[in-house]
Amino acid sequence: MIDFQDIRALSENEALERARAARAALGSRLTILGHHYQADAIVAMSDITGDSLELSRKAGGLESEFIVFCGVHFMAESADMLTSPEQKVILPDLAAGCSMADMATYEELEAALEYLEQELGLSILPITYVNSSAAVKAVVGRHGGVVCTSTNAPKIVTWALAQPGKTVLFAPDQHLGRNTSFKLGVPLEAMPVWDPKVHDGGAGDDAYRNARVILWKGHCSVHTRMTRADVDQWRLTDPDRKVLVHPECVFEVVQAADLAGSTSFILKTLEQAPAGSKWAVGTEVNLVRRLSQLHPDKDVVPLSRIQCLCSTMFRIDPWHLCWILENLERGHVLNQVTVDADTRHWAGQALERMLSLS
Ligand code: 13P
Ligand code: SF4
Repeated sequence: MIDFQDIRALSENEALERARAARAALGSRLTILGHHYQADAIVAMSDITGDSLELSRKAGGLESEFIVFCGVHFMAESADMLTSPEQKVILPDLAAGCSMADMATYEELEAALEYLEQELGLSILPITYVNSSAAVKAVVGRHGGVVCTSTNAPKIVTWALAQPGKTVLFAPDQHLGRNTSFKLGVPLEAMPVWDPKVHDGGAGDDAYRNARVILWKGHCSVHTRMTRADVDQWRLTDPDRKVLVHPECVFEVVQAADLAGSTSFILKTLEQAPAGSKWAVGTEVNLVRRLSQLHPDKDVVPLSRIQCLCSTMFRIDPWHLCWILENLERGHVLNQVTVDADTRHWAGQALERMLSLS
């Protein structure tokens, strides 16, 4: 087996060159999937690029023996759930997690459901954002709930709000939950936050009893770095520039923006924008930079002047990719991500409910 330390000693170009040679030797046995937030060198090595749902869906249609997922852990789990048991899904660095997904554990979710239902007598319909562990998705599936993505969140929340007698619990991203529900007419005061670190959630029993949507206290550490002051600054210095943000941004930013939507919405909006138009885009910086190169006829800049980089996505680097591929070529499967059968079954129910609703 090749040791990572030996690969780490290579220059970036050497690591990429060796990764390319290993990739070529593996041929059709391998597919490399790359999320839009990956660095350019990784995107260039990817057979398919896309947002998290697109990649998981495409993983489901692949025939290759190995799927190397250049993204974060929950995405590799989703891919494993959607591929056959013989196919192996590999995450080049197992430490590439998502800090938002880590803000909701299945134990915390079970404790919250128990308190809200047993103590307060509520009937909860849980929704989990796709950015969550398979274990959390399984709790949601067992509870009759559903997964959503940032693209289909409005559809899923609309459906959930129409279920009689139900209070919606939206986890783990409070901002996506708040922005989506507010747009659908739920007032802010009907959306208390549930803090999983506090036994009773921390907002007061009456707030939960009167809630339409209970928001899990979780957030994306990348998108919450963009502030209302960033938007105001562009309005002041460049009033013709449109502000386009991801709904993981805080409420004040989404309210002040011209447009808000998922990664695919951002891609589509810029594709369709007229030449010469100017955009400040509030999402992960690797993607914004790539969009700016992709549309040289438009002026695309990051919304924030500070670097909003997803540091966990960035863990998938040329050295990890080279290490994984060279070992694979020699018959060593490292960093395989697997979801056990029971979790797969219940998480699958929540995912299938989402697919049937969207
Ligand atoms: P997408 O589902 O749009 O790929 O986004 C994933 C993500 O992590 C956003 O921060
Ligand atoms: Fe998670 Fe945010 Fe990174 Fe997306 S950008 S993977 S939500 S930490």
